[in-house]
Amino acid sequence: MENNMGTLIRVLSFSLGLALVFTLIANLLPQVEGEAPVEEEVDLSSLDMDTFVALGESTFTGKGTCTLCHNDMGRAPDLLNMDVVAVSAERMQDERYVGTASNVTDYIRESMVAPGVYVVAGFGKKGSNDSESPMPDVSAAPIQLSAVEVDAIIAYLQAKDGHEVSVALPTLDKADMSAASVGSEPVPAAPVAAATPEAALAKFGCSACHSVLATESPVGPDLRNVGSRLSRQQIRMSILDPMAEVAEGFPPIMPNLADQMMVTELEMLVQFLAEQKQ
Ligand code: HEC
Ligand code: HEC
Repeated sequence: MENNMGTLIRVLSFSLGLALVFTLIANLLPQVEGEAPVEEEVDLSSLDMDTFVALGESTFTGKGTCTLCHNDMGRAPDLLNMDVVAVSAERMQDERYVGTASNVTDYIRESMVAPGVYVVAGFGKKGSNDSESPMPDVSAAPIQLSAVEVDAIIAYLQAKDGHEVSVALPTLDKADMSAASVGSEPVPAAPVAAATPEAALAKFGCSACHSVLATESPVGPDLRNVGSRLSRQQIRMSILDPMAEVAEGFPPIMPNLADQMMVTELEMLVQFLAEQKQ
């Protein structure tokens, strides 16, 4: 898992230098692949709660890397399949709870930025007797969510189970601040992303080893029907960590190409492959 994290973080780090403005655009506007975001397009005043919740969801599964641990594999509480608001209220009643949150919103925020304050029983670091959390502070490097992104996730976690959203929509002030704090880091030149799945397959040489679209190769599994064999998440993991699960009957030679991918390219490939059901 350390490995997956590392890889994913390296993939994500391409986008870390880009300001919040870009995050909002990437998540909210119809994506124009390969084109540099234009600042004028952001209009925080037109941001409504539904869109903010949607930003929270995409941050949860994307940049936040939350689903890497928070899934149904037992590594961390399965936040998507539990009522986080109700559970948070219970956690705060636990005698082991020593945090400072007095309401659910603050508990969820605290869980994200100070995970060590309260460690859910059974989920602590090995050998720590639940005194240390394996979860990273998601506001710190390398995940580095902005205050607005943290709020968006809280909004999403509340809304997904029908609870009222208690965080406020970001104001320009708050957004400017987080953008400024990101902007003070050296911003790497944005690499040019492949614009189509075909371009991404070519850019990363996938067709050299896989039968896909019109080309054939016997080296790796046929990808023309991969969507009917693997789930989206399995496809994503096959690319992010090729050695974690090696397809039966094939040599473990798939290179780790995720290192060189942008998030948009990775997600575009995952989307494309999930649709290959020939
Ligand atoms: C490296 C694995 C990992 C990542 C990445 C991760 N978490 Fe966690 N998280 C955990 C573990 C393990 C726990 C349980 C131990 C604890 O309470 O600290 C936890 C606990 C929590 C809790 C408290 C749950 C409860 O039942 O009280 C919340 C809320 C939470 N995480 C949210 C998030 C969000 C949101 C993200 C992404 C921005 C995230 N986590 C990323 C591993 C992770
Ligand atoms: C050097 C050869 C090679 C290259 C290049 C390569 N792969 Fe693979 N790939 C393999 C092999 C061999 C396997 C089967 C072994 C394994 O699972 O690691 C595999 C497995 C997979 C799987 C899992 C398929 C299944 O049925 O389980 C997916 C998805 C995948 N590759 C996608 C890609 C994508 C997307 C690219 C380009 C970004 C790519 N591969 C580049 C050799 C390669």
